[in-house]
Amino acid sequence: MNIPFVNEPFTAFAVQENREAFEDALRKVQSELGREYPIIIGGQKITGSQTLHSVNPAAKDQVIGTVHQADRELAEKAIQTAAETFHTWKHTDPNERARYLYKAAAMMRRRKHEFSAWMVYEAGKTWPEADADTAEAIDFMEFYAREMQRLSEPQPLVRIAGEDNELTYIPLGVGIVIPPWNFPLAIMAGMTSAALVSGNTVVLKPASTTPVIAAKFMELLAEAGLPDGVVNFLPGPGSDVGDYLVDHALTRFVSFTGSRDVGLRINERAAKTAPGQKWIKRVIAEMGGKDSIVVDNDSDLELAAESITASAFGFSGQKCSACSRAIIHKDVYDEVLQKVLERTQKLTLGSPLEMQSYMGPVIDDKAYAKITEYIEIGKREGRLVHGGGTGDPQGYFVEPTIIADVDPQARIAQEEIFGPVLAFIKANSFQEALEIANNTDYGLTGAVISRNRAHLEQARREYFAGNLYFNRKCTGALVGTHPFGGFNMSGTDSKAGGRDYLLLFTQAKLVSEKY
Ligand code: SER
Repeated sequence: MNIPFVNEPFTAFAVQENREAFEDALRKVQSELGREYPIIIGGQKITGSQTLHSVNPAAKDQVIGTVHQADRELAEKAIQTAAETFHTWKHTDPNERARYLYKAAAMMRRRKHEFSAWMVYEAGKTWPEADADTAEAIDFMEFYAREMQRLSEPQPLVRIAGEDNELTYIPLGVGIVIPPWNFPLAIMAGMTSAALVSGNTVVLKPASTTPVIAAKFMELLAEAGLPDGVVNFLPGPGSDVGDYLVDHALTRFVSFTGSRDVGLRINERAAKTAPGQKWIKRVIAEMGGKDSIVVDNDSDLELAAESITASAFGFSGQKCSACSRAIIHKDVYDEVLQKVLERTQKLTLGSPLEMQSYMGPVIDDKAYAKITEYIEIGKREGRLVHGGGTGDPQGYFVEPTIIADVDPQARIAQEEIFGPVLAFIKANSFQEALEIANNTDYGLTGAVISRNRAHLEQARREYFAGNLYFNRKCTGALVGTHPFGGFNMSGTDSKAGGRDYLLLFTQAKLVSEKY
């Protein structure tokens, strides 16, 4: 592709025409709710012995789709099929592999609102959040396609007389892709695209709360002409099917995004060599975060409040990048708290079908129970300033919640909640604020709001986060612009949407010929 990569623009919902187009897409998707989605292995549609109803988290009784569930036998078949397909797919020209993604991206762009509408229904995403998710999915396909083409160019090597040397990036083999539900299109499509465009074959195990969106992506890949067996769709229970896939001797790598507990479990299991296994499995894991925004005493307090509110409560705080800790210099603590409170009071909690809802539901009963429990813990650990309650019992609605005067070591300051719960922490100095920001097991995102150049430079050196932002929010990384991934228990810092990413899905081969 000779057109340089640019990020897909977000939709301006202030424009009536765009609103109407989105409403049309919502209606179209509504008319398609409740259908059945098969397991797909080698292009074959297979029914499982069990099915799972994917429901709307904003209206628990509404079935989005019925998804067939794989068992170990089908997991075995999927891996064998992927291994078989690898023999041919690995030799496919990288430019051809890239073209499947360009085609899929073009088709997704044409049906953009439809994909977003599925996320409104199945993931409870608000219009702008769903729109950004689809834009990011398009970006990942466009970006990784170009990246594969770039990697397939001969690498400049030192030349010596009488010898021809060439280094190429060849694929690894069968990859297990286990994506999260919170970016059910973008991250799922990104992880899958990176694996396949690099020449690997994939067993895709979608998140159990958002399998229909993944099934829609499978339909798209088939329409784009991707050969059967390159991506095999295997919805099923993580505890059984997931373990089986990770443990398998033919599994060459596992690409996972999700919770710390599951990521560590995968890492441990993948480290064990199965009988007959011929390689060290590679694990690419993006896990949790306990991300902070630090506000200095010399800073734009409106910007600080805006950045904190958006980062804490966008998509109900269900982003690994979300700000769950506002660490504020004591001189401006009360003022920033007041400004965040005023903004939070204006946020609307309600059905994501309505454009004006700023926050929709959380994903499921488990998330709802966990978040509400943390709110109770938070009430004991600090001062409840806003929220703490729930919303319409038809869905899993949790109010945006602010807890002030939290100790940096408190549980709500240390443990990932993955919901709309924000802890305010007071710091005596900028130095102390940075120390608090670095005091968790994680290191994913962070932000500093400051006008003080020396403090920004200090944070640049000392703030230990994979994605560090100055004078802006800590969510919303753009593909190619903000390669995304974190340190420590946040994962393997794999930098999705960056120029190093495809190296994780390839191995370099050097051929040297003496003339
Ligand atoms: N990439 C997302 C963000 O930056 C999180 O996964 O918000």
